[in-house]
Amino acid sequence: MSDLQPREQWNTRLGFILAAMGSAVGLGNIWRFSYVTGENGGAAFLLVYLLCIVAIGIPILMAEFTIGRKAQSDAVGSFSKLAPGKPWVIAGILGVASAFIILSFYGVIAGWTLHYFTQYITGGLASEPAGGYGDYFGGFITSTFHPLFWQFLFMALTIGIVYGGVKKGIEKSNKILMPLLAVLVIVLAGYSMTLGGASEALSFLFTPDWSALANPSVYLAALGQAFFSLSLGMGALITYGSYLSKEHRLPGAAVSVAGLDTLFAILAGLMIFPAVFAFGIDPSAGPGLVFITLPGIFDNIAGGQLFGLLFFFLLAAAALSSAVSLLEVAVAYFMRKFEWTRQKTALLIGGIIFLLGIPSSLGMGVLSGVTIIGGRDILDSADFLASNIFLPLGGLVIALFLGWGWKKADALQDSDFGDTTVGNAWVFVLRYFAPVAIFIIFLSSIGLF
Ligand code: PFF
Repeated sequence: MSDLQPREQWNTRLGFILAAMGSAVGLGNIWRFSYVTGENGGAAFLLVYLLCIVAIGIPILMAEFTIGRKAQSDAVGSFSKLAPGKPWVIAGILGVASAFIILSFYGVIAGWTLHYFTQYITGGLASEPAGGYGDYFGGFITSTFHPLFWQFLFMALTIGIVYGGVKKGIEKSNKILMPLLAVLVIVLAGYSMTLGGASEALSFLFTPDWSALANPSVYLAALGQAFFSLSLGMGALITYGSYLSKEHRLPGAAVSVAGLDTLFAILAGLMIFPAVFAFGIDPSAGPGLVFITLPGIFDNIAGGQLFGLLFFFLLAAAALSSAVSLLEVAVAYFMRKFEWTRQKTALLIGGIIFLLGIPSSLGMGVLSGVTIIGGRDILDSADFLASNIFLPLGGLVIALFLGWGWKKADALQDSDFGDTTVGNAWVFVLRYFAPVAIFIIFLSSIGLF
């Protein structure tokens, strides 16, 4: 789009908040949160995670909104517009790279949810398959073409929405889907608590085993999860903020997005862990956790078939609104850079990302022997590199940019904080606390590669 055309904008402030929530709430809150929490020992991890959200995540979220609204450009363009010729733009470039990497494997997992959704429609999971849900899941993800088909379908949906412009589709659908998903997760959490694993689950989630904190991987995992879950550190929220006009206030929006996102994650924990313990599954079972425990719950509930159908539909829908924001980061950049149309860019970039995701899917089956980073398979390596390294690194540069690259008075004014205590605390966090914390966490985890 040339600079002469008016930039697309959200219809309302609520529309913007909902789209940002739609970006934040996704597979990260349910699929990724539950297995990462399970792998990292539960409550102690949860505590570090919450600290990362409040002390690092929310301030950087505010920084992204502020940058985007001020610059009115994409993840890369925002930096080159506000600070031409300066190296800050590296954050935007890292961001676009992260969008490619994250969406490549996100599409694979989202494809799995679509498959489960259709299995509940056709009755394929109406009763426990021979060999149990674990075997069923294993058989599905290790096959070659079947998961690719669902990944392709999911990516086609994502491309379709970005192709049409974000405004109508996403702004509207989130208004209905988010509350529905929340209700369903609450109902399922309530039910899951009656399965007999509730007390173990509560102590796993809320009674910290401090010895878990001795492991440096916990901090990096918590930081990465905070960035992933809040869609932070890669310019997704810069891009969304850039579709916002000047008269809307930012701090309230930032806190609502982070609050809702965290609530979803905790509810998901209350839904999944009681079932994990009731069915005797290992909490550190990894990425399959959701796909194995939840069908077990649905199998036990009256009307479980309907619950399963609704749940996987909503999870796929939540994944879709997040995937759209991931694709939008790359599309907004390439559209401006090469002056391509939105349609052409969406098809081309979305297609490339689908292809990039194929190895992640095959890594479960024919390529299962391949490990890349520290013994991780292809999908885990892509996730680790983007979520635990690129996003926090991007966040670090964003914090430094706002903290040091802007005049303090401008930062306070452009963020709508004004010269208040909270505003000054925010600048302090961006200048000192967040960069130092991220740096220390990186240093402590050097052995993990
Ligand atoms: N926040 C999304 C989730 O929790 O599923 C994932 C995500 C979306 C990460 C957009 C990063 C991003 F820019």
